[in-house]
Amino acid sequence: MAGLDWTYGVSTLRQWESADYEPSLPVSEKSNPLTRDIDQASAYSIVKMLQLCDSQMFQEEAGTAYQDPQESCVVMSGCGTSGRLAFLISSGFNKALSQLNQSKVYSYIIAGGDRALLSSQEAPEDDPRLGVLSLKKVCEGKKRVLFIGISCGLSAPFVAGQLDFCLQHPEVYMPVLVGFNPAHQARDEPIQDCTFTFHSVVQRMQELAKSQKAFLINPAVGPEAISGSSRMKGGSATKILLEVAFSAAHAATFSNTPITYNGVLEHMKAYERTLDVTYSQTDGITTLVEAAGQSLRCSRHVYYLGWGSLALLGLIDASECTPTFGADYEDVRGFISGGYRELNNNDGPLTSLGPKFSIAHEDFLHLILPCLTDKDTVLLIYTHPDDATEVGNMARRVREKTPNLHAVYHQADGDTAASLQQDDIKKLCLSTLKITWPREALASGTLQHMQRELSTKLVLNAVSTGAHVLKGKIYQNHMIDLQVTNTKLYRRATRLLQKLSACPEENCEEALLKAIYRVDMLTVEMTSSDITTHTCFARNSTKVVPLALVILLTSWSLMEAESHLKQQPIVREAVAQWMW
Ligand code: F6P
Repeated sequence: MAGLDWTYGVSTLRQWESADYEPSLPVSEKSNPLTRDIDQASAYSIVKMLQLCDSQMFQEEAGTAYQDPQESCVVMSGCGTSGRLAFLISSGFNKALSQLNQSKVYSYIIAGGDRALLSSQEAPEDDPRLGVLSLKKVCEGKKRVLFIGISCGLSAPFVAGQLDFCLQHPEVYMPVLVGFNPAHQARDEPIQDCTFTFHSVVQRMQELAKSQKAFLINPAVGPEAISGSSRMKGGSATKILLEVAFSAAHAATFSNTPITYNGVLEHMKAYERTLDVTYSQTDGITTLVEAAGQSLRCSRHVYYLGWGSLALLGLIDASECTPTFGADYEDVRGFISGGYRELNNNDGPLTSLGPKFSIAHEDFLHLILPCLTDKDTVLLIYTHPDDATEVGNMARRVREKTPNLHAVYHQADGDTAASLQQDDIKKLCLSTLKITWPREALASGTLQHMQRELSTKLVLNAVSTGAHVLKGKIYQNHMIDLQVTNTKLYRRATRLLQKLSACPEENCEEALLKAIYRVDMLTVEMTSSDITTHTCFARNSTKVVPLALVILLTSWSLMEAESHLKQQPIVREAVAQWMW
């Protein structure tokens, strides 16, 4: 538990709000004072730090107007995790409509198309035109569209382009922006061939918001536990806000329940309790973080085998490890019972795109199980009333190959039938994380399910983040091995190098380019190219930022730095070798 006092006062929790705390950065890019030493924390301390960070989501007053989506089509759009959550939420609410024999009204857009649901596609985030094209395609023939652009950092040009398009066609589109920075911190960097920036779009929306012709939902939820990792709190808060809004709209439309401030508040509180229920299992989560960390440390793998929408959270969490930690797609992988049939994505099966798109349990049994060792960690993720027989069968198959099998499952308090089925599975697992949900008088089945999804997201985010921290992928509380595959990430990498090396910006950018192009001497062609060219090239380079940092901190050549990092991948220690 070293390194952090768990009785932190409110003032410490809110230290990031002070005007002189990292003043040049928007909230979503600031480093969180709570996690400054996460890189040297034990698995238990990592989980406690994440709990404190997540609790910041409920410390802000959003003061937001909630609207009833009244038209025939609701489109949610975003990049990376924001697009993946658009998919998860639209699937969930379309299912709810089907159960009521209503036609589906929700659609999702993710930058880079459906392949981005399962893999890292960072470049399309920079392309506003692509955003507009995909919006037009989804909305063909529609007369009224509620468009919800999600960009946690108020930064993605893909979303800015779509919002700009909506603002130009108010007769059809009602634009809503969801993000987690104050409006004045929206990104103001020029976008290639565009007359607008994200910031100018936000300003236009703020003006229209006064007459309810546009809406901004942008509470600040505090900096991320790992700086800039908006998949964590940003993703959770997106899920909470949109689900609260849509649930209220469904209740108003289908059961005449008026939308009230108190109703919305009660719903938000149910999500706040979700955090309490989840983090009351700190010991169980710690066990999982340690198991996953050990697997990654010896270059083995972590597998999430899930059922229903909880499996989708596994797929999402796994897919994020590549851009976030520079991980290989094989390091952390998710599989879903029923494969693409269960996923039900716009483009159907994507298996032909390559091995990383094999996501069914059958794929796991054919491709992974034969080579599974006890150094790999396997995590079963399910909830009653999922098919306990199927879970049991899978557990037995895995157990034949490795004892390193764990389970995360949810059940309602006092559900004895589920407990009996669970006993058999428990015997096969090294650890089981049982998340028990109190029977709440007001909680509908749908709300309970959404709470279980959020809880699963928190657990898996903790497992994959904690495991990569233990592997040494984090420097203080920054992801050091991030991919530099779009403008936002390029800028973030340069800033990070400045902060960690204390060198001037131009030296940092020079070191970054040397690491991207893998040269000691940059050519004029390289230095005069634009950022898009650099980020395209960086798609095929690995360890770009660690390498640049080592170059800045030592007098090693690129080749020397590369070979030291190969022997000692933890940057702090590689640099220490140079000092000695
Ligand atoms: O560019 C990569 C990334 O940071 C993802 O990790 C993230 O999910 C995505 O961009 C979207 O960011 P935002 O929601 O701030 O637009």
